[in-house]
Amino acid sequence: MTIKSSPQTYGAVAISLHWLSALLILALLWSGFRAAGLHDPAAKAALLRLHLPAGLLVLALTAARILWWLGFDAKPAALAASPLQQRAASFVHILLYVVMLGMVASGLGMTISTGAAGHIFSPDTSALPDFWRVRPRIPHGLGARLLLALLGLHVAAALYHQFVRGDAVFRRIWFAR
Ligand code: HEM
Repeated sequence: MTIKSSPQTYGAVAISLHWLSALLILALLWSGFRAAGLHDPAAKAALLRLHLPAGLLVLALTAARILWWLGFDAKPAALAASPLQQRAASFVHILLYVVMLGMVASGLGMTISTGAAGHIFSPDTSALPDFWRVRPRIPHGLGARLLLALLGLHVAAALYHQFVRGDAVFRRIWFAR
């Protein structure tokens, strides 16, 4: 296993960033939808105490991924069967970055404009604001659904490559060779 990617497989840094981001995003979707459905402020704040730092960690990892690809590493050769599939894959990957960054921006916008951080991280959570009274709540909710749809497409494409085309795509993005 090498630090950088080769024309055949991803390297250790790209693989670590990919799976760490994937885990955090699943945790964020779960904690976000669950927090939004709760009315008890203490229970909501307990989830948001995980949600907010995880969101900021996703921002750091996404910035690290962009820097890594722009400055230090090159992606393995594309697996797409046609130029159209290749363009569709690149489009979904770029949109995933854009939506993730949009989620962080709207999440921060909601938290800062309601002054919620002080209530979330204080022992007295009774004054937790209603996030729906600020504008960024709408793109945050829509972005979460768009992110779910894009992740569905991303996973479906990976399964198609693995099981229909027999490209062994999971081996390219995992540590064991
Ligand atoms: C990739 C990053 C993120 C993802 C995937 C994510 C996901 C979600 C989801 C799925 C919801 C529920 C949406 C709904 O039911 O309409 C939500 C709500 C929320 N998120 Fe995030 N989020 C992210 C980043 C952040 C960040 C960085 C912050 C703040 C710094 C944040 C703060 C919040 C807040 C305050 C709520 C509202 C909960 C409520 O309405 O009770 N999120 N998030």
